[in-house]
Amino acid sequence: MCGIIGFCGMEGSTERAAARVLEGLRRLEYRGYDSAGVAAVCDGALVVRKDVGHIDEVDALQHLGALVGDIAIGHTRWATHGGVTQANAHPHTDASGRVAVVHNGIIENYLPLRAELESQGVVFASETDTEVIPHLISAQLHNGHPALEDAVRAVCARLEGSYAFVAVSADEPDRMVGVRQGNPLVVGFGEDGAYLGSDVLAFASKARTMATPDNGEVVVLARSGVRFMDGEGREVEKERRPVDVGWTETDRNGYPHFMLKEILEQPEALLHTLEQDDALLMDVAVEILRARQVVFTACGTSRHAALIGRYLFSHVAKKFSDVVMASEFGYFSDSIDRHTVVIAVSQSGETADVLDGVRLAKEAGAHIVGIVNRPSCLLVDESDHVIRLNCGPEVGVAATKTFVSQLSVFYQLAFAMVNRLGEARCDLQEGAHRLDILLHSLNGSLQELAWELREKEHAYYIGRGINFATAMEGALKMKEISYVHAEGMPAGELKHGTLALIEEGMPVVAICPGDETHEATVGNAIEAKARGGRIIGVSDVESEVYDDWLRISRVPPLLYPVMLVPPLQLLAYHMAVERGCDPDRPRNLAKSVTVR
Ligand code: F6R
Repeated sequence: MCGIIGFCGMEGSTERAAARVLEGLRRLEYRGYDSAGVAAVCDGALVVRKDVGHIDEVDALQHLGALVGDIAIGHTRWATHGGVTQANAHPHTDASGRVAVVHNGIIENYLPLRAELESQGVVFASETDTEVIPHLISAQLHNGHPALEDAVRAVCARLEGSYAFVAVSADEPDRMVGVRQGNPLVVGFGEDGAYLGSDVLAFASKARTMATPDNGEVVVLARSGVRFMDGEGREVEKERRPVDVGWTETDRNGYPHFMLKEILEQPEALLHTLEQDDALLMDVAVEILRARQVVFTACGTSRHAALIGRYLFSHVAKKFSDVVMASEFGYFSDSIDRHTVVIAVSQSGETADVLDGVRLAKEAGAHIVGIVNRPSCLLVDESDHVIRLNCGPEVGVAATKTFVSQLSVFYQLAFAMVNRLGEARCDLQEGAHRLDILLHSLNGSLQELAWELREKEHAYYIGRGINFATAMEGALKMKEISYVHAEGMPAGELKHGTLALIEEGMPVVAICPGDETHEATVGNAIEAKARGGRIIGVSDVESEVYDDWLRISRVPPLLYPVMLVPPLQLLAYHMAVERGCDPDRPRNLAKSVTVR
């Protein structure tokens, strides 16, 4: 949710900083893309260019990469405070236009700060919370803190909320200053300069090592080198770690969209999730078994995966657990204590609601297990145990391969609890092989089906047991990228109200694997068909009720979600394309939701 990047060329570097920043912005675009901008410092002057649109559109209008100078900062926005306008795009400046800031996060007390500044005669150019920062920095620069780094530290003492920002000043043309409080910011060390970025993708192919400032620490990227300071201005040593090279590859590899590439990559992703440390899995399994209560917390697709995880733990290990939506966790945490294991599931490891819940649970003494994909993220720092998905960067905004990877981790954990990890791995290996065949055989027919359905505005997805969450995930994919109103629900609930909405020709996707739920779900599909529903059966078992049959492979019953969700992702993908939507840039959706 908003991406920030800065590049500071080292002494002797001839690189144009704005070009590096533009390159980084393209890699961060998945964090938000309603507007973009760059500020560069050169010869004591600050130049800002920004506009509304995707990065390439803004670059075509404003030639962002052509700005000269050794120091530049950039931003790709996902609007929170203030509409999508050029004035609200970042970077924001102070009144003199000599200080510029890019920011990710929310300044919660921006209204009183804005009122205070306005009472001093400051005129605001935007509706954003961010704009208070450059004005406050400017005030500090003129009022006892003439150095940018000191001014930034003084301003942080006045800000409430969670944020990461980077500031530059025309009066200090050899440096930029970054700080983070609750939001991500990482430093990358390249051969000819240093980077600040919202995540490692900003500079992945350019930097060999990286470091992360702690909350409240200030980092100065100067042409002469990089320094970290604590909140009191004392220098701190930072350990550098290597940038994970597996995380640098973000090409579409000839596919029209990242989403399609990532859907088809899932068999390989499944195999990568098997690269787990057995001792770690066993430790976590033991913690879960010992705990008095086990609570998953997650949002969106990760929450759907957790719902499946809950069934797996119950079926395989007879261990009860619950899933609490991360945004509701705070209202539901009274019973969390030191006998609780909280499993926080987050692809990005940055989702604000997940992190809030985790911090609350930690205070109550709970043991935190983080399940993440992004290698360096805030959730890793907050967790007692971390299990990584190892499936590489997911660039498509809609989660796809990380979902099946999360399922793989839960499958392995459930079987680790009963000392049958080896069996789980064999199932997953075989599953990956079958999924590969399935995806390639179904792709064409799913495209045709999407063409037939392209004008539908509503769809229902039904499933039972472990696959009720499969139905929810199928519906979520359809909603978020093709803007079709889709609802997923337990099939048994259909007759408690929703049947009233089934009309002639309405698509009803019935998840009917050949397991204990098959007969009952087919029964619900018959009820929907009787009201005119067009039944799209996703199953390994044929039935007369299906108007369309998406035939999947037979696998062990608990592995069905791994086989069922990818065809539903493909259906949503083709629907988006047939309806003229860009699946990689869904409207109003950001990949990392770092605000509450
Ligand atoms: C759906 C989607 C979102 C995320 C949700 C949680 O395709 O991308 O619903 O699943 O924002 O994100 P993470 O897993 O990063 O916490």
